[in-house]
Amino acid sequence: MGSTVETITVRMDEGHIDRGLIREAGDIIRSGGLVAFPTETVYGLGGNALNPLSSEKIYAAKGRPSDNPLIVHIADREALPLLVDEMPDTVGRLAERFWPGPLTMILKKSDRVPYETTGGLDTVAVRMPANRIARELIRAAGGYVAAPSANRSGRPSPTVARYVSEDLAGRVEMIIDGGDVLIGLESTIVDLTSDKPVILRPGYITRQMLEEVLAEVEEDSTLMREDSGQAPRAPGMKYRHYAPQGDLTIISGMEENVTAYINAKCMEQKRMHKRTGVIGTDETIGKYCADVCRSVGCRDDEVRIARELFRILREFDDECVDVIYAESFSDSGIGRAIMNRLLKAAGHKVVNV
Ligand code: TXA
Ligand code: MG
Repeated sequence: MGSTVETITVRMDEGHIDRGLIREAGDIIRSGGLVAFPTETVYGLGGNALNPLSSEKIYAAKGRPSDNPLIVHIADREALPLLVDEMPDTVGRLAERFWPGPLTMILKKSDRVPYETTGGLDTVAVRMPANRIARELIRAAGGYVAAPSANRSGRPSPTVARYVSEDLAGRVEMIIDGGDVLIGLESTIVDLTSDKPVILRPGYITRQMLEEVLAEVEEDSTLMREDSGQAPRAPGMKYRHYAPQGDLTIISGMEENVTAYINAKCMEQKRMHKRTGVIGTDETIGKYCADVCRSVGCRDDEVRIARELFRILREFDDECVDVIYAESFSDSGIGRAIMNRLLKAAGHKVVNV
């Protein structure tokens, strides 16, 4: 698909929902068009989840392989039964605790969900976002909105509307700019179709939080390693992802070793006339000699790191950086999601120093 559609961008505050604009956006989706909108995790690219043609349009607009299934977004619990064939009792408990919010559940799909939406799978991913603009839009659009992150395939997910427009202007009918997102990383995905619940993508809702509701939760073995010899169970996780244009490497080790190694590398790259970038923390950022230095915040403020990461990855593109070195972060709690995204963005290139 070329750049053919005229894109209108509208601004809306979560505290002041503009009913007229929401109705207009809902009508676009009902009639088969696409609307990008804010959620609490990242911006989504929405189409009618029950219309196979809408899902095809989403794949085309994103430049995404069509075997990579979409998440169906609902606004109300009552909307769920139409989508699914089986409702394990875990669903109610998880929904009670985490919906609306950044949790996606994988369930057996009903006949109403087209295979175009699920990338050919017999299962469907369902999420009820917390953002009020998102929920009003879903209701106005008929209740079922398929929405991947609103980036061109492979790029970091957008956490501000400017990056949605950079990737999708001319490819969607409307962009709703609802300001900065709250969380900054995509939802946690949990598969409820096998004996034990399995986390397919870590997110703001951690394994520990899930285990407070479900007795035991496993984690897909492909999440933190490059090649565990197994295909990931969330098809999307196999693709190169979140990658900035510059070549990104994670440097792990004691702080002094990391800063010394990165600075030596930056000098070396500069001699080769490469533009260098560093992802550091408030504690270390002043020590680096790279052309572009970005701090994700304090090392122990995981919530803030999650919120900053994708924006910073995009900023290196804005700054035309060729080579990027990132510090490594704790991978417990939300850190698990942060490191999962960073490892993917780096194509699993890690140097231990
Ligand atoms: O926070 C989010 O989840 C955001 C916002 C917009 O809601 N959406 C999002 O969608 O991240 P997307 O398409 O970028 O990522 C969806 C992931 C992909 O990795 C896909 O493979 C996986 O969910 N997925 C979707 N349906 C699945 C299914 N039936 N079985 C396994 N994995 C599935
Ligand atoms: Mg995505």
